[in-house]
Amino acid sequence: MDVIPYDPQTTRLRILFATSELFPLAKTGGLGDACAALPVALAALGSDVRAILPGYVSALDSARGKRRVARLAEGGTLLLGHTPDTGVPVYLLDWPKFYRRPGGPYQDQDKRDWPDNLRRFAAFSAAAAALARHGDAAGWQPDVVHANDWHTGLLPALLALHRGRRPATLFTIHNLAYQGNFPLEAARALGLPEAWLTPDGAEFYGQFSALKAGLRYADRLTTVSPTYAREILTPAFGAGMDGLLRARAADLTGILNGIDTDLWNPAADPALPVPFDADHLAGKAMAKAVLRAALRLDPRSDGPLVIGVNRLTEQKMADVVLAALPDLLETGAQVVLHGEGDPALEAAFRAAAIGREGQLLVRIGYQEELAHRLNAAADIALTPARFEPCGLTTMYAMRYGALPVTRKVGGLADTVTDIDSPDAGPGEGTGFTFDDPTAIALASCVRRAVSRFHDSLAWRRTQRAAMARDFAWAGSARRYRALYDELVAAPIAPQRAAPAFLEAAE
Ligand code: ADP
Ligand code: GLC
Repeated sequence: MDVIPYDPQTTRLRILFATSELFPLAKTGGLGDACAALPVALAALGSDVRAILPGYVSALDSARGKRRVARLAEGGTLLLGHTPDTGVPVYLLDWPKFYRRPGGPYQDQDKRDWPDNLRRFAAFSAAAAALARHGDAAGWQPDVVHANDWHTGLLPALLALHRGRRPATLFTIHNLAYQGNFPLEAARALGLPEAWLTPDGAEFYGQFSALKAGLRYADRLTTVSPTYAREILTPAFGAGMDGLLRARAADLTGILNGIDTDLWNPAADPALPVPFDADHLAGKAMAKAVLRAALRLDPRSDGPLVIGVNRLTEQKMADVVLAALPDLLETGAQVVLHGEGDPALEAAFRAAAIGREGQLLVRIGYQEELAHRLNAAADIALTPARFEPCGLTTMYAMRYGALPVTRKVGGLADTVTDIDSPDAGPGEGTGFTFDDPTAIALASCVRRAVSRFHDSLAWRRTQRAAMARDFAWAGSARRYRALYDELVAAPIAPQRAAPAFLEAAE
C-alpha cells in the first residue's frame, strides 16, 4: 500500500517518533526526557504524532490503554497505548525474547551490554519501518518518520531502500559518542545489504555502525543544539563521524532542546516542601534547610550548597570534579553529588566522602525525586562536560534558581551566559563558564561563583535572569515542524530494493 499523500489543507501532519527511551516508560538519561517532551509540544502545534518504543517491562507497565494493532511475521506484536500523564499515543513492540528482560534498555543488571543489542534494535527499527510503510490495522501511517540516536539508525536506512513513495525521514543525534558499533559479521548475519557494510555505507573502522547508518541514509539530520551542530563537523567533536557529517552539512540543523516546564516547575513541584518562583524565593530557602537537615549537612555553614546531579562519566568530567573536590571544599561550600555511572568513579567518589561528613555527601544512584529536591535546594549546580550535545541538567538547575558552573561547550554554550561575558549586558549573565577541561579551571570558576554568592544582591539578579530564561519546548517544536514541512514538500529520490530482513520482519 502506498502512503497517502499529505495534504496540508485537509490532513494533520502525521509523525512517527521512534526512540529507545521515553520518560516515564523508559529513561537512562536526557534522551528519555527530550523524547517525552517533544511529541507533546508537536501535538500542541496541531501535529498527529505517535511514538514507537521497544516493549520493555517498564514501558509495558507504565503505558495506559494498550491494545494489539498488528502481529509481525517473526513473532513480535505491536501494541498501541498512550503515556500516563501526557496522553501521547505510543506503539510498543512487544517481543518478549528481546525486550522483556530484567535490567535496563541496553544493559543487564550488572551493567553489561546485552550481547544481542544489534538484533534487538534492528528488529525494533524493522518493525517501525514496516509500520511506516504499511500503516497499522486502523490505517494510520506517518508522513514523516523521526528517528533518534543509534538504536533507531537502521530505520531511516531501511526506509531509504524503498522505491516510490515513502515517508520522509529525519534522524536526530542526541549523542555521537554512543554509536552502536557491532562486528560486520553480526550485521551480515542479519541479512543487511552488502552496500551498507562498506565505508560508503555504514561500515565504521571495521565494524558496522547503526549510528552511521542513520547519519548516512536519513533524508535530514538534526542535533540537539546549534553549537554542537557546528562542533561535530570537526575531528575534535566528530567522534570519527565528522567526515560523513561534513559531507552532509547542508542537511544538518541544530535545534536546542527544551525542557518539560510542567514537570520541572518549582512553582508546582510535588517533591518540594513549599513552591517558589523567581519573585518568591522563601520556598527555595526552605527547600535548602529541609534538605540540609535530611542529609545531615552542617547547619552552621554560610557557604553555598553546590550540587552535581549527573551521570558519573568522562563526558560529564566526573574525573575532573573528583580531582577538584579538595579545592571546592576549601571555598566553604557544601557539596552534594548524586549520580551513577562508571563503577571506578562511583567507588572513588564514595571514598572521597569518607571523613568529610557534614560538608560532602555522595549518593550513588539516581532518583528522579531527589534530583528535583536537590535542584530546589542548591545555590550552585556543577554541570561541566568534555562535550555536551545539549545538557538538560543545566536547564533544570537554572529553572530552579541553582546557578550553573559549567564548561562553554556544545548546548551548554547555547544555554548559559557567563556573568562576566562581554556579550552579556548588565544583569544578563545566567551562570559561570570556563574553557579548559581541567580541575584548575573548574575550581577557579567555582571560586568565582562562590565569591558572587556572598554578594547577595548580585546573586539575586543572576538568579532572576537564570530563572527567567525560556526553556519551553514550543519554539524548538516549531523549528522541527518547519523541517517536517520542508521534508514532506520535497521529492524523495528512488532507492534500491528492500533486503530480505525487512520483509521477514513485516
Ligand atoms: P545526558 O543525557 O547526557 O545524561 P542531560 O543533562 O541532557 O545529559 O540529561 C540528564 C538527564 O538524566 C536528566 O533528566 C537528569 O535528571 C538525569 N540524570 C542525572 N543524573 C543521572 C544518573 N546518574 N543516572 C540517570 N539519570 C541521571
Ligand atoms: C544526550 C546528550 C545530552 C542531551 C540529551 C537529550 O543524552 O548527552 O546532552 O541533552 O541527549 O537530547
